[in-house]
Amino acid sequence: MKFFVDTADVAEIRDLAATGLLDGVTTNPSLVAKTGRDFFDVVAEICALVDGPVSAEVAATDVEAMVAEGRTLARIADNVAVKVPLTWDGLKACRSLSQDGTQVNVTLCFSANQALLAAKAGASFISPFVGRLDDIGHDGMQLIAEILEIYGNYDSFHTEVLVASIRSPMHVLHAARLGADVCTIPPVVIRQLAKHVLTDKGLDAFLADWQKTGQSILGRGDSGDKA
Ligand code: E4P
Repeated sequence: MKFFVDTADVAEIRDLAATGLLDGVTTNPSLVAKTGRDFFDVVAEICALVDGPVSAEVAATDVEAMVAEGRTLARIADNVAVKVPLTWDGLKACRSLSQDGTQVNVTLCFSANQALLAAKAGASFISPFVGRLDDIGHDGMQLIAEILEIYGNYDSFHTEVLVASIRSPMHVLHAARLGADVCTIPPVVIRQLAKHVLTDKGLDAFLADWQKTGQSILGRGDSGDKA
């Protein structure tokens, strides 16, 4: 499963990209607004930091303007994926931009039928929002299972299921168990994935016991600094 980070915070992205675990980035207008920075500068900087797709969302709502904005965004860098909302105009814009050879991420998906339409429109990614469905008492992960089942039924569909609106490590775990293609994860949740109280406790005990031996690993013949 690919890991995207769901943020427009360049410093966070730089830090996470250094782990080598990041396969892409998703932004949205709310995340860009939070930075208080110029949208184009932010997208260009992120695209230079990460090789994989960087989603940048259009702000227009009619098809002609969405396509024009999408083409402008796509010129920022080769790895821009244009994000369009799951509306009729968004689906038409998806079709046009995909035919240009631009990757399109269809966002704000809340039903399996919407996902079916996005695949038929040639989307590279469909973004079902699991957290926002859970927030209103629905089962976000059930939607992921349905979309994966439907897409799996048709060899002609090449749209990747990008699980979005992730709130916790459990969402990531469930998405991976279902075989989702991508999770876009807030930075705080990515960091939570590595944490376990027993890991911290075990490491403290190992380090304390090692200290008692008075030994060191480096400086024993082979320094480990092989050319
Ligand atoms: C996805 O691309 C969206 O940016 C994001 O996952 C939305 O998450 P939210 O529901 O936490 O705002």
